[in-house]
Amino acid sequence: MLQKFDKRNENLKIWVGDQLLNRNDAKVSVFDSVVQGGDAVWEGLRVYEEGVFLLDRHLNRLQESAKALCFESIPSNDHIKLCLKKTLEANKMSKDTHIRLTLTRGEKITSGMDPRLNQSGPTLIILPEWKPPVYDNEHGISVITSTIRRNNPSFLDSKIHHTNLLNNIQAKIQANFARVDAALMLDYFGFAAELNGTNIFMSKGDKVFTPFADACLHGITRGLIIELCEQHNISCAEKNISLTELYNADEVFCSGTMGELTPITAIDGRIIENNSGIEMSKNLVSLFEGVRKNFCVNL
Ligand SMILES: Cc1ncc(COP(=O)(O)O)c(C=O)c1O
Repeated sequence: MLQKFDKRNENLKIWVGDQLLNRNDAKVSVFDSVVQGGDAVWEGLRVYEEGVFLLDRHLNRLQESAKALCFESIPSNDHIKLCLKKTLEANKMSKDTHIRLTLTRGEKITSGMDPRLNQSGPTLIILPEWKPPVYDNEHGISVITSTIRRNNPSFLDSKIHHTNLLNNIQAKIQANFARVDAALMLDYFGFAAELNGTNIFMSKGDKVFTPFADACLHGITRGLIIELCEQHNISCAEKNISLTELYNADEVFCSGTMGELTPITAIDGRIIENNSGIEMSKNLVSLFEGVRKNFCVNL
């Protein structure tokens, strides 16, 4: 399903650096590290009526990603929260909003790879958009297995939520050609890692499984689902999951800030059949919705 242009987003005010700019003026320099080398980290945030969902967890992950990449003068969480508040207020947004929060290494004094060329601190970008969850969470999505593998820590550690997304974009291109919604990416060893933009779970009977967070992003939504399972005595284990196990799962679903929890109804054209009759994903969706407001932060 291709997202359409939402007219409500025509006159957005976007935070770039230290100011709010109109959509058409919101640009970074050609010397910015994100242009030069995709040298940036990011978070996707969702704003509900009750506030920004799991904000501190997202900001902490952003801090850790920037620290791992040795960014200098990383803005504090308090500073980012203030900029988020100003941006949401300027756009009169208090629900149904997705924010793409990016922190680049900043402008370079001349083009080049060396971070020592960055002498003016990082660039903060806050792009808020009216955007309801992107997937059809009622009917689910179909995926194919991509031939493009997810990175593992030998190449580029998935614990860094970076903007070097070309392998995921290539996987999504394969999904587009196959006319399905998303691509399942495997890890180096051939086990499932995640979809090109979301984490993956499967259930078999009353048990839930998800891949180790070695080659997938350690998703914030993924983390909450694992916690909810623990709190409600639902067995949930991280493990290596092969394609055979996914094809034979009772349910498969994906998770992420952009789409929340979404059933995966077919993988590589194979329909996922629920032989146990246990509706695990429905159960988890209702647990998720039940706690949502407890995890929202009002700025
Ligand atoms: C590759 C990838 N996997 C999974 C996710 C889901 O993570 P989260 O639940 O933190 O939104 C994202 C979101 O940015 C992502 O880019």
